[in-house]
Amino acid sequence: MPSVTGSEKSSGTTLPQVTFCFRCIGCGSVASEASHDFRCSQCGNLLEISDPGWKASGLSASALKSVWRERRSSNAVLDLSGVWRFRELLPMPASETQIVTLREGNTPLYELSQASRNTGVSRLYAKHQGMNPTGSFKDTGMTVAATFARQAGYRWVACASTGNTSASMAAYAARGGVRSLVLVPEGKISWSKLSQALDYGALTCQLRADFDGCLRLLQELVRQAPVYQLNSINPFRLEGQKTVAIELLEQMDWQEPDHIIVPGGNLGNSSAIGKALLEMREIGLIQRLPKLSVIQAEGANALVRTVRAGGRQLVNMEPETRATAIRIGNPASWEKAVRVLEATGGACEQVSEVEIAQAKAEIGAEGIGCEPASAVTLAGLKKLLQQGFVKKDETVVLILTGNLLKDPDFTMDFHQGQLFQGTADDKEGDKLKPFRHPPIVLDATLDAVVTALNEAEQSERTHSNA
Ligand code: F0G
Repeated sequence: MPSVTGSEKSSGTTLPQVTFCFRCIGCGSVASEASHDFRCSQCGNLLEISDPGWKASGLSASALKSVWRERRSSNAVLDLSGVWRFRELLPMPASETQIVTLREGNTPLYELSQASRNTGVSRLYAKHQGMNPTGSFKDTGMTVAATFARQAGYRWVACASTGNTSASMAAYAARGGVRSLVLVPEGKISWSKLSQALDYGALTCQLRADFDGCLRLLQELVRQAPVYQLNSINPFRLEGQKTVAIELLEQMDWQEPDHIIVPGGNLGNSSAIGKALLEMREIGLIQRLPKLSVIQAEGANALVRTVRAGGRQLVNMEPETRATAIRIGNPASWEKAVRVLEATGGACEQVSEVEIAQAKAEIGAEGIGCEPASAVTLAGLKKLLQQGFVKKDETVVLILTGNLLKDPDFTMDFHQGQLFQGTADDKEGDKLKPFRHPPIVLDATLDAVVTALNEAEQSERTHSNA
């Protein structure tokens, strides 16, 4: 086996000796091993990992807080990762040398001052998971799942993806010396995500299907071929993705926000964050549960429909949205997400394509930027405020899941006024003109640039007087 991270040496960190098991979220049966499809052998429902290591560690909530803080000044390989730094709450491999890491996590928590002024929410923050090594939140889960894939001795890992999972999986597989197989919907993922998978050496198959079709095929494949599934059905992924919530609370000095708002696609992320919140409360790291709300695009709103129909059965649908990361109609982790909404008292809402585009431009105007799927959080916040579900004096954190550079086509189309051309949103989209900053082509003369500058100045004055 190659070493942890290429040429780096193991730091000799002592790992917590943690036993964990798989628990079915449906019938509750517990097993020490999981089958290839990560489904319960009794009832077929999804598995989650239970018995986190903090009990075995014997550490109190305050001891955990200070251990984690101390590790921030350590240069040991595991401590440099914003995921493995919280290892007491993670399943651990037998040896540190198995761990595949790219220094994931450690993402910034930004104040959104302009959005705060616009919405009236005085304490409004964005936790930017797009600042992870491959540009999306997927890395925090992938480091854990890729580690266990490697420990199990798999030659191949595989996923179906709308782009970010495949980019992340391909990177971690490459770092861990494992081959990767990517199944993506042809023509429905952004070029920049696709190009990442290619560069990291994945066997990349563009299938004539949507994401849900790709995932269905993957599930058949894992039953027949010795490949390890790295979709968010894989419970190790969700364990790593818990750390966004732990890191967030640490950044807020363990003062719980009132609301955390996430985009919803296949619903792994909301499930993971909800699990983390419940575990943190059980341990005593926090006293109060923030409400976790999930926002979907109107055109890919299976969870919204499901919740409105009572939440006991999935209402799936044919998805369509320019926020391609969440273009999913049959979300695998819907049941976990419904439980999280119930446990934390969160809301589930949907936003239109125009609302998504406006919110993305507003986040960009703060110098932060994100991909369209992440912007549903700000658009959703505006709705939840209107409904009175979020109050202006509450503390709100938006989870931005992907980097602005993940979908340049969307951004270019938006600023050039082409995003809604020929669609039903054409007229509505026109209202976003003040948010657009199209590039201008000029002769290479001083005169032309000075004129452009003066015109921009003039137009700004007109807007601020309007
Ligand atoms: N935001 C981004 C940028 C995503 O890439 C995804 C999912 C989500 C939100 C939704 O998260 O599925 O956990 O509810 N992307 C997956 C992928 C499906 O294949 O990259 P979720």
